[in-house]
Formats: sequence, C-alpha cells, structure tokens
Amino acid sequence: MDIRFLLNGESVELRDVAGTVTLLDWLRETRGLPGTKEGCNEGDCGACTVAVTDDHGTRALNACILFLPQLHGKAVRTVEGISGPGGALHPVQDAMIDHHGSQCGFCTPGFVVAMAVAHKAGRRDFDDALAGNLCRCTGYAPIVRAAEAASEAPVPDWMDEDMDALSGTLAAEDGPVFAPESGDALAALYARHPDATLVAGATDVGLWVTKSLRELETVIFLGRCADLQEIEEDGTRIRIGAGVTMDRVLDAVRPTLPSYAEMIRRYGSAQVRAAATIGGNIANGSPIGDNPPALIALGAELHLRAGDNRRSMPLEEFFVEYGKQDRAQGEFVEAVSFPREAAEFRVYKLSKRFDQDISAVCGAFNIEVSDGRVTAARVAFGGMAGVPKRARRVEEALIGAEWSETGIEDALDAFAEDFVPLSDMRASAEYRLEAARNMLRRYLAERAGGTVSVLEVSA
Ligand SMILES: Cc1cc2nc3c(=O)[nH]c(=O)nc-3n(C[C@H](O)[C@H](O)[C@H](O)COP(=O)(O)OP(=O)(O)OC[C@H]3O[C@@H](n4cnc5c(N)ncnc54)[C@H](O)[C@@H]3O)c2cc1C
Ligand code: FES
Ligand code: FES
Repeated sequence: MDIRFLLNGESVELRDVAGTVTLLDWLRETRGLPGTKEGCNEGDCGACTVAVTDDHGTRALNACILFLPQLHGKAVRTVEGISGPGGALHPVQDAMIDHHGSQCGFCTPGFVVAMAVAHKAGRRDFDDALAGNLCRCTGYAPIVRAAEAASEAPVPDWMDEDMDALSGTLAAEDGPVFAPESGDALAALYARHPDATLVAGATDVGLWVTKSLRELETVIFLGRCADLQEIEEDGTRIRIGAGVTMDRVLDAVRPTLPSYAEMIRRYGSAQVRAAATIGGNIANGSPIGDNPPALIALGAELHLRAGDNRRSMPLEEFFVEYGKQDRAQGEFVEAVSFPREAAEFRVYKLSKRFDQDISAVCGAFNIEVSDGRVTAARVAFGGMAGVPKRARRVEEALIGAEWSETGIEDALDAFAEDFVPLSDMRASAEYRLEAARNMLRRYLAERAGGTVSVLEVSA
C-alpha cells in the first residue's frame, strides 16, 4: 500500500508499505528518530507516545501498536516535533525542567508528548490524561506539577499547523493491504477476501504482531471507513458505528449514561481509548472485554453486514462460546445500538489496578423496581465465563423479589447456577463469584443512596 502522512510538519510518502510495520519500528530503525522509546511494546507504558492529528483532533497514541498504514492522511508528531522551529521548547518541556520531572529520562519523551496533547486540548484531568505513561524513577507528583504549571501557557503555533498542511491521498486499493473508505467498499472487499484480517484500532491485533510474532497475510484497515465512525441518536436510542474509538464513546454516553462513562474512563489509558474501537472490543469475543457486559445489560442490538446483507441480533447472542462468535466469513460488525438513557443502569469494573488494567470481573445491572419489588432485570458479567454473559438465573430470582438485602438472597445464591468462573492470575474462581455477588449488594446500596465508589469510601 502507498501512504502519505505528515511527520513533524514534513510530508512523507511511502510506497508498498507492509501492513504490519509499526510506527515505532519505522521511526527508530528506518527514519533515524530514536526519541520515541520502546518500553513494553504492548501499549502499556506510554514510552512510545506520539501525537496524531486527524479529523477528530489531536490524540496521543502508542506508536508500538500503530501500524504505518493507519497513518495514511494523518499528521504525526514525535517528541522531536514537539519543540518548535529553531529548537524553541514547548511549554510542557520548560515546565518539566523547572519542576524536575525527569530523572533517568527514559519515560520523558512519552510523557512530554502526552502532556503536549493534553495541553492542546486544554485538559486539566492530568491523572487520567497521563495514566497511560509509566515512570519508575521520578514519581508522578513532579510530572503532574509540571503539567499543571504549563496549562496556562498558550498552545504554540506549530502544534496547530498540522491538518492545514495535509492534502491529497495516495492510497492504492491493490495488493495485500487495503484501506477502504466506506462501509460499502469494505463489504465488497471483504467479500472478495474473506480470509483477510480486519484491523480497526490494532490494540489487540498489534499485540498479535509484536508479542505473538504472527504474520498477517491480507490486511484490511477499517480506519478510513467514514460511515463506520458515525454516532447517530434519535429520541430514545443511540447507534454507534463499529469504528468509533472508545474516547468518542465516552463523550457520547457521558450525559445520559454516566456510570458507563465512568467505567470507560478506566478502560486502558488515553492512548488506548484513542485507538481502540467499540467494534473491535465486541468482535474479538474476549470474555473480559468491558463493553459487552455493559451493552448486554442495556439491551443492545448488534448490527452485522456481509456484502449487501445486513442482520441484527441481541448482543448476548453474538457470543456463542469461548473463541466462537456468531459471525460468518466475510461478515463484519457495522454498529451497535442501545437505549440512550437508563436511569438505574450501573456498571462496575473490578481490576487489580485502578487505572489501565484489564478487568477481573465487570458487572452491569439494569434493574427496575416498582412499589418495592423488582419488575424487570437485565444483569450481565464479563470475566465470569468463557464469554460475556447474561445472568439469567439471577434475573429470574430477582423478578418479583422484594428490593432489599433479604429480598435479594435467592438471587445471590443463583450466581453459582449462572457462572462457574475460572481461576487465573487476575483472580480465583471463588473470588470472582464473591465479587460478583458483592456487586449486586453494591448496586442495592448505591440505589439506596449509599456511598459505594472506591474513590469515596474510606475505612
Ligand atoms: C494496554 C491495553 C489496555 C487495554 N485495556 C482494556 C480495557 O480496559 N478494557 C477492555 O475491554 N479492553 C482493553 N484492551 C483491549 C483492546 O483495547 C480492546 O479489545 C479494543 O476495544 C479492541 O479494539 P481495536 O479497534 O483496537 O481492535 P483491533 O485490534 O483492530 O481488532 C480486534 C479484533 O476484532 C476484529 N475486528 C475489529 N473491528 C471489526 C469489525 N468492525 N468487524 C469485525 N471484526 C472486527 C479484528 O479482526 C480482531 O480480530 C486493552 C488493550 C491494551 C493494549
Ligand atoms: S512501548 Fe510501551 S506503550 Fe509502546
Ligand atoms: S524518569 Fe526514569 S522512568 Fe521516568
């Protein structure tokens, strides 16, 4: 595939780019820009953070799990491009010096780029904005102090110039690497190449390459399919295209589904949320993906497309068994739709670390109560079975029961009928079962007005 993008303000054209060369490897090994560091090579540490600008703005991304074709038509700034012409320092760089934000310096380029992106967006929530950047020697307080100190300074001109300079495209539609520009083009292409690997944000597929060393023959990139990136709302429902990234999902659900938004705030990091798509999180069929339990409890419908054929199904029916989804060859996830509002909806993510960690258990509750009794219940969990799964027995035990600590006792017993969880390095089976039961207790307490957030509860 032939691609074109801006790198630190300069136009770059590359011909016959392989589908799975990462930006990090290309920067360091081919382009001679070693400022972007390789730490984990799996999206966890932020040492490789670069700033990428496109129609959705400027976002921090991890270059280690970003394939070169994903950059076509975009603008990239590495740490070498964060300072201005003649070497003028960016305000966050000045502030890092003033506040002693660097010791060994290995993490510093990644922090500086993430801070410059947060600075451009006018963000002040530095704990969230920098949660994807790890530092093992300075400690975070001086770094956050530097980010705060820089926040009043104006955004330097060179940080605003990128998109204006981007024009024209080079993309070739021939060869083993494709980047269709619409759902229609994708449908036709995938029908011709049903064995191709679809790549959306590459936060999963990137690791197949960097960690499992898999070779991918034919690759179709979804990032240029504009219609897969649409969010549509009517009076009662919201439809989110499969290619919408998790940072945009967060913004879309924040006003009416705040509990869902709060869970997404802890989904990976800013860098991961800016790349990972909702469609990829569903299509990968992971039993520990965070969106599926929330969406199942909300009563979401999944929309699939193969060629010109479209079909929809309740999301829970998509997950057949571990590693198996109800998706035919050449069929792709087009969108997911669900109610815009659900006043009593809550989702709880339990992970070993508060930030940037995969869930051990993720539980979602959408229970209606009238005159002190449960009238309807949708309850779903991730991390409790080989697939994200609805807790049907728990729901049956709840419906008609009194909405009180004693009233939910049968439902607590029913968890063991719905789930036989696994033990792994994240949690033992017994811990998972008890944690799931405690989430129902927590939901009851929260609805009664209790303080249940781990950020607010103190011993
Ligand atoms: C550091 C890190 C932290 C993470 N934290 C979390 C977390 O907190 N919670 C969580 O749930 N996940 C987490 N993940 C996992 C990952 O980010 C998500 O699963 C993500 O949503 C996948 O989306 P993607 O667009 O990156 O998918 P990709 O990697 O591009 O694709 C994933 C799979 O889905 C397929 N696919 C993609 N789009 C479609 C489509 N439209 N139709 C059909 N198939 C498709 C691909 O072929 C592939 O099999 C994390 C990952 C990393 C690296
Ligand atoms: S090297 Fe750690 S996130 Fe990329
Ligand atoms: S300064 Fe050494 S890892 Fe951050």
